[in-house]
Amino acid sequence: MPSVYIETYGCQMNVADTELVLGHLAVHGYRRTAGPETADVILLNTCAIREHAEERVLGRLGELARYKRRRPDVRLGVTGCMAQHLRQRLRERAPYVDVLVGPDGYRRLPELLAAGGADPHVGLRLDPEETYADLPVAREGGVRAWVTVMRGCDRFCTFCIVPYVRGRERSLPGPVLVEQVRALAAAGVREVVFLGQTVNAYHDGAWDFAELVRRSAAVPGLRRIRFTSPHPAEMSERLIDAMAECPAVAPQLHLPVQSGSDRVLARMQRDYRAAEYEALVARLRARVPGIALSTDVIVGFPGEDEADFAATEALMRRVQYDSAFLFKYSPRAGTRAFGWGDPVPDEEKSRRLRHLVDLQEGISAEINRGLVGARVEVLVEGPARRPEGWMAGKSREMKTTVFPGPATPGDVVHVRVESATSHTLSGTVAAVG
Ligand code: 5AD
Ligand code: SF4
Repeated sequence: MPSVYIETYGCQMNVADTELVLGHLAVHGYRRTAGPETADVILLNTCAIREHAEERVLGRLGELARYKRRRPDVRLGVTGCMAQHLRQRLRERAPYVDVLVGPDGYRRLPELLAAGGADPHVGLRLDPEETYADLPVAREGGVRAWVTVMRGCDRFCTFCIVPYVRGRERSLPGPVLVEQVRALAAAGVREVVFLGQTVNAYHDGAWDFAELVRRSAAVPGLRRIRFTSPHPAEMSERLIDAMAECPAVAPQLHLPVQSGSDRVLARMQRDYRAAEYEALVARLRARVPGIALSTDVIVGFPGEDEADFAATEALMRRVQYDSAFLFKYSPRAGTRAFGWGDPVPDEEKSRRLRHLVDLQEGISAEINRGLVGARVEVLVEGPARRPEGWMAGKSREMKTTVFPGPATPGDVVHVRVESATSHTLSGTVAAVG
């Protein structure tokens, strides 16, 4: 039986795609192995969102090439977004790579791995119909499962490479997804996370995303449903109603804002203004009390001046996110913004980034310290990294919570919070179940 070793880079969608690739390869006789040393097939499932992600993979490919030099039969493959984005550069920089397969080419991976000098292009065709709905997924196991409900993106934010490498938006059949959720719950999964690049743009026939969430929330045995990432302009009232009315929907939302400046938002083609975004936040907070909010922000987008940056900072102060992912703008060849150059100097981007990181650290710490004395419901995942002997899980608000054991993964415990940092709550078990 040939063995396959795979490394995953980038977002949760890629983690889910790796599970898909492994499930598909298993049917074709491959077994997974934990390291590259003895693997017959070595795959890197890659990300193209920022230049840094691609640099890391190019470096890693250089390292992995030595396994191929030692054992020439090893097949080395690059899958995912970067294979799609950098096909030409990959051929030049890493000519020893045997297969390049983009996000719509996984179905053909077994065939391409088996063929000697197959046309390397076939794995890179985008296919607007491909959803992989019929392929088995080799899930990691554990208390939480990720379920891809839609693929691709039609929004074309001007900074973003995703629509070009993952192709047009398409949704999986609703009944198939609810059946998957049912099977997962029956197998002991307690929390399901729906995934999609613009997950709330999901639609299948008469089902919108709110319908999918409602039907899934009704599956017996499932404790929690989350989804990521929604687009603010697609947050329908129906979806907010479903979040408010279904107890299984966790009070937590990752709602990427990208910028607090209307001028920048317009140039990003985000389809909302800051005031509309904040009105949405107010509606969410009114309908889902205690909802935890996180976001993505890009600093140093072309043309972002001091006033624009100040508007982003002010928005973050007003919204008071529980956490935020903050990025320096990275020009991506092929996007619209690429044509506008990269006028904000890197040192200035770093300064803006550091400023927002510090701001957010303070806000996160303050919000979490405000939870001291409260009880949070924790779905136990496994041992905490520290302290020794403690257990860890996530609260319904998705905050990492640690407490002294014993507890079993899959248990739901109520923890009284005794201390908090910007990233972690810590306390003791007040009740079980
Ligand atoms: N540069 C920097 N950050 C980017 N993102 C997407 N494209 C870029 C880019 N070119 C960020 C956005 C998005 C997150 C997944 O990555 O904030 O929400
Ligand atoms: Fe990229 Fe915008 Fe689509 Fe998100 S919504 S994947 S940022 S193009």
